[in-house]
Amino acid sequence: MFHIILHEPEIPPNTGNIIRLCANTGCTLHLVEPLGFQLSDSAVRRAGLDYHQMARVRTHRDLATCLEAVSPTRLWIVETGAGHRYSDVLFGPGDALLFGSETRGLAGAPLAAAMALRSDAQCVSIPMLPGNRSLNLSNAVALVVYEAWRQLDFAVPPGEGL
Ligand SMILES: C[S@@+](CC[C@H](N)C(=O)[O-])C[C@H]1O[C@@H](n2cnc3c(N)ncnc32)[C@H](O)[C@@H]1O
Repeated sequence: MFHIILHEPEIPPNTGNIIRLCANTGCTLHLVEPLGFQLSDSAVRRAGLDYHQMARVRTHRDLATCLEAVSPTRLWIVETGAGHRYSDVLFGPGDALLFGSETRGLAGAPLAAAMALRSDAQCVSIPMLPGNRSLNLSNAVALVVYEAWRQLDFAVPPGEGL
């Protein structure tokens, strides 16, 4: 399935929702520190998480360590302003989707670091009406994960609890 990487997430309920999304879609969630909360925070848990769902979550001290550990098939950088739409590219098993923090996004140093670490990385955007700044992080993750999984015909990997 896919790897979701959140770069320095700040808002607990967003990460809680994304943990639940990962449990429902078979993705593994990678959180790049520093985090703006503790994973034990009740605001993270309010999304109704249990031990089974938390088992899909990993934390990494920085982006380089994360990408080395994950070693994705391809890295997709999901950020506003990219030339390609998320719905126009071909995702595959083992791909990683990288998202920015709620207040800072990926613009600047994180984007440059990701491109330096994976020169084959591609940037994709989710269309919005002109004049709008960005979507909520957990909504953006859900849109791209479901498009990627749809492209695999919602395949269920072996060992995924059927
Ligand atoms: C709330 S946004 C951060 C926006 C940042 N404050 C800014 O205005 O540039 C958090 C993350 O959600 C993702 N995101 C939100 N809207 C997006 C869009 N339309 N296209 C691609 N990614 C988006 C990106 O990964 C972004 O870094």
